Amino acid sequence: MAISESKKTNPLANLLKPLLKRDKAGPQLELLEAMAAGKEVGDKEWQKSGKEHNWLHFTRHSPFNKGDMNIIVRGEGHYLFDSKGNKLIDGLSGLFTCNAGHARPELAQAAQKQMMELDFMPLWSYNHPRAIELAEKLLSIGPEGMNRIFFTTGGTEGVESAWKIAKQYFKMTGKPQKHKVISRMTAYHGTSHGALSITGIPAFKQMFEPLVPSAFRVPNTNYYRAPHEFANEDEFGIWAANRLEEAILFEGPDTVAAFFVEPIQNAGGCFTATKAYFKRIREICTKHDVVLVADETITGYGRTGEWFGSIRYDIQPDMMITAKAITSGAQPLGALFLKEKFFEPFKEGTSVLAHGYTFGGHPVACAVALANLEIFERENLIEHARNNSPIFRKTLERLYDLPIVGDVRGDGYFFAVEIVKDKKTKETLSREESEKLLRGFLNSALLEAGIYCRADDRGDPVIQLAPPLTCGPKEFDEIEAILRKVLTEAWKRLNG
Ligand SMILES: Cc1ncc(COP(=O)(O)O)c(C=O)c1O
Repeated sequence: MAISESKKTNPLANLLKPLLKRDKAGPQLELLEAMAAGKEVGDKEWQKSGKEHNWLHFTRHSPFNKGDMNIIVRGEGHYLFDSKGNKLIDGLSGLFTCNAGHARPELAQAAQKQMMELDFMPLWSYNHPRAIELAEKLLSIGPEGMNRIFFTTGGTEGVESAWKIAKQYFKMTGKPQKHKVISRMTAYHGTSHGALSITGIPAFKQMFEPLVPSAFRVPNTNYYRAPHEFANEDEFGIWAANRLEEAILFEGPDTVAAFFVEPIQNAGGCFTATKAYFKRIREICTKHDVVLVADETITGYGRTGEWFGSIRYDIQPDMMITAKAITSGAQPLGALFLKEKFFEPFKEGTSVLAHGYTFGGHPVACAVALANLEIFERENLIEHARNNSPIFRKTLERLYDLPIVGDVRGDGYFFAVEIVKDKKTKETLSREESEKLLRGFLNSALLEAGIYCRADDRGDPVIQLAPPLTCGPKEFDEIEAILRKVLTEAWKRLNG
C-alpha cells in the first residue's frame, strides 16, 4: 500500500477546532491541530503523537526515544499494512484473535445492522436477543455438559469470573472453605489482581504484590524440558498431573476451589499435553471436588483444529473460558461456559452473583460473534485447520536443519519454535543473550523480513506462530522462508 493511502485529511476538521480551546500549559496536541487545520496526517505525525501520548501494553518504551513505533494502519485477509507502507503476513492472528482473517465485510455488516437496531443494552437485570441467540449457538458447538454462558469482554474477565463463581458456588453449597486456586508454572491467565494471581509468571507479578492470596502453582507440560527421562509423553503427562493431586492434598482438598489449565499453554511456547494428562487431571479434580477450568482464551474457536481444545483433548472441563477469536477480534467479547450445577444455587430465592461488566455481552459484539461463527461454518474453517495442521507442522519442521532451532511444537494452527544455543544439550540462552537477541534483533528483524509474530522469553525463548485459520500451504511456506532467513542471521549474531 502506498503511504499516501494511509494519510487522511479529516473531513470533520471544523468540528475538531473547538476541542483545541485549551490551557496553553497543557499537553501539545499537534496531531489534533493539524487535523483541525485540514492537513494530511500520516506516519510522521502519528509517530510524534503516539510517542508523546500513548502508553502501549506490555511494552518497553525506551526504544521509542530513538526509533519508531510500529503503527499498523490496515488489515486485509492474512496481511497487515503498516504506516510506512510495509506489508506483513499476520503470523499471530492479531493476538490469537483474527481467526477468520482481517476485515471481513460480513462482520462489519453485522455490526452496523445491530448498531441501528439496538446499539447497547447491558446484561444487568435485562437481556437482549443477540446474547440469547449467541448463548445457544455457543452451547451447540461447545463441549458436552455445558448449559450456561456468562458473557465478559475478554479473557482476564473470564478468569476473574470463573474464580469468583467457583468461590460463591462452594460457599452456597456447604463448602465455604474451598477458595484456593491452582494453576501451572509460566502460564499466563490475564492481568487483573485475581487473574494475575493465577498467572504463573513471577516477573509480571512482582510490581503488583501483594496479590490475591491463595493461588498456587504446579508444573506445566513442557515435555522438551521434562525434569528427567520418561518412557513417553503419556507417562510424563501422568507425572505432571500427579503433581496437581500432590498440591491439592498439601493445601487440603477442603480449601481448593479450582484448577486452571490451558489445553495448549501459550506462555513458554505451546506446551501441549496428551489425552492421558487431561484424563488424569479430570480424575483428580472429580475426586477432590475441584472445579476444572479450561482457559481457552487462545485455544478456542478453531485454533487447535477443533472448535475447542477441550473437545480435541477430551478435557471435560466444568467451566471453559473463551474470548479473542469468538468475534475474530472485530469486537471485544468473552464467553465463560459453565455446567448448570454452578447456576443451581441461584435459581431460587434471593441469591445473586454480585459480579458483572458494563460491556460484557455487548449487543454489537454478540451480533459480530454470530456472524463470525457463521463464517467458520460456511467456510469449514475448523476442518480446514485440522486438515492443514500437519502440513504447517512439517513446513516448520524443515527449520530443524538450522543449529539454533531446538524444538518445534504445538498443534492445530498454533506452534512455537524454541531457540537454543546448543541443540544436543538443549542449552538455552542466558538472560543477557536473550535480551540481546530477542529485543535487540529478532523482533525488529522479523518485522523487517515481512512477518508479524512474536519472539517471547516469558519462559525459554521461542517464536510463536498462530496465523489465521484461512491460511494454507502457500502462507506456511512464506512464514518458513522468513523464519529461515531471520534465524540464520540470529545464529550468526549469537556466535559472532
Ligand atoms: C490463556 C489466557 N488467559 C487469559 C488471557 C487474558 O485475556 P485478555 O487479554 O483478553 O484479558 C490471555 C491473553 O492472552 C490468555 O492467553
